[in-house]
Amino acid sequence: MTEIRTPRLLLRRWSDDDVVPLSEINADPAVMHWTGDGSPLDPDATAGEVERWEEEWDDEGFGQFAVELLGSGELIGAVGLSVVADDLPGLPSDVEIRWRLGRQFWGQGYASEAAQAALEFALQDRGVDRVVAVVRVGDHASANVAEKLGMAAEREITHPEQGHALQVYAIDLTEYAA
Ligand SMILES: CC(C)(COP(=O)(O)OP(=O)(O)OC[C@H]1O[C@@H](n2cnc3c(N)ncnc32)[C@H](O)[C@@H]1OP(=O)(O)O)[C@@H](O)C(=O)NCCC(=O)NCCS
Repeated sequence: MTEIRTPRLLLRRWSDDDVVPLSEINADPAVMHWTGDGSPLDPDATAGEVERWEEEWDDEGFGQFAVELLGSGELIGAVGLSVVADDLPGLPSDVEIRWRLGRQFWGQGYASEAAQAALEFALQDRGVDRVVAVVRVGDHASANVAEKLGMAAEREITHPEQGHALQVYAIDLTEYAA
């Protein structure tokens, strides 16, 4: 069972009980604005997302963590690692870090705290030495998180289907550990 504790958060794998609170997060248009085609996800789509994330954990040994508040146990969102979708140009087999929190949990440093722990997990537990973040141009909150993690803006690409501009950030974790 993979679990990480940070000062304020527990990062863990998913259970069926997470689908309802994650569906509430995914139903918020502000949360989903910069994700995929920008549409909120309904509970069925959310259940499918959790299923895919768990499959990725089983297949890759990493995935998106369920992030909960220590103490209350409230699910606040998803942060973690995924293999970059193979339709994104020039990022073959790269591991990407992603973050998504419920709106009431923004602005408290939780995303950065969880993401920092996920990067340490990538390097120390899984031997991943390079992680990218693919951020929609205009998504300043995500750019801010990437920059605070020490990720460098590498280049801009265009999403092959949706056509929007994406900024690729990257970090060499072997340097990050030093
Ligand atoms: C992207 C997202 C995760 C960023 O969340 P966030 O809360 O802004 O990010 P952070 O955790 O870094 O917290 C930011 C602010 O919390 C504040 N903060 C409050 N208490 C803090 C604490 N104890 N420690 C650190 N920061 C704290 C800081 O002022 C910080 O702002 P700063 O970096 O300008 O100083 C969030 O906006 C989100 O979930 N958006 C929707 C999903 C999304 O768009 N995902 C990306 C596309 S796939």
